[in-house]
Amino acid sequence: MPALYKHRFSCSFLMSASHIPHHVAIIMDGNGRWATKRGLPRSMGHKKGAETVKEITRAAGELGVKYLTLYAFSTENWQRSPDEVETLMGLLRQYLKSDLQELQKNNVRIRFIGERDMLAPDITAAMAKLEADTAGNDGLTLCVALSYGSRQEIVSAVKKAAALVKKGDLQAEDIDAKMFSEMLYTQAMPDPDLVIRTSGEQRVSNYLLWQIAYSELFFTKTLWPDFNKDELTAIINDFKTRERRYGKN
Ligand code: IPE
Ligand code: IPE
Ligand code: MG
Repeated sequence: MPALYKHRFSCSFLMSASHIPHHVAIIMDGNGRWATKRGLPRSMGHKKGAETVKEITRAAGELGVKYLTLYAFSTENWQRSPDEVETLMGLLRQYLKSDLQELQKNNVRIRFIGERDMLAPDITAAMAKLEADTAGNDGLTLCVALSYGSRQEIVSAVKKAAALVKKGDLQAEDIDAKMFSEMLYTQAMPDPDLVIRTSGEQRVSNYLLWQIAYSELFFTKTLWPDFNKDELTAIINDFKTRERRYGKN
């Protein structure tokens, strides 16, 4: 085999050796359209979507994914009608109350990223309790992006760095990408290997802009309430065939 091909072959072989993505990030989109298509109120789509969250969390753990980040509510979603925001906050309250047993049973550690001060105090208290109660679990890490906006996250990291420089605890020239990553909400988490967006939209909507620099992207037309383990498995199988080059040849 010519050296060039041999090299390419061994690289792609290595890259495709049944690598399950370590970190999968999902933009769970299409709840509203799912309901509207059935003549139902949008709230019913969100309710069904919350069931899909549980199914996919279980499935990701079973498939060997170590980190699953779910985009549940963006900073821009606060601009939706008060009714819809209330529905979503209600579902969130239910989830926070009811899911501890299931998370413990499946050895899932949960964490939340986003602008907590925009959420109601009872919600942030329940979030903190769930994070503390599952802190010892070492199976899947489920990261829920809630009231999350990536630009806001980056601005807040810049402010943290600027404050340290101002105090004299950090030299501006010592700031690098690795250190900056640790100032983001996702600190201590690896970058996503695979980003999936449901519902057919092909955009990132202010999600993990810094972290997805080299993620593989997958867009499916399936609406989130119809997404399931079989489709997740098929997308992961597609991921396994991709050759990630990171700018190298
Ligand atoms: C995703 O579904 C859930 C949230 C963004 C909170 P949507 O509510 O965006 O559903 P569509 O996109 O209007 O169908
Ligand atoms: C992105 O979906 C946010 C979440 C899935 C939580 P949106 O429905 O809010 O995004 P756009 O408005 O279509 O970009
Ligand atoms: Mg949407």
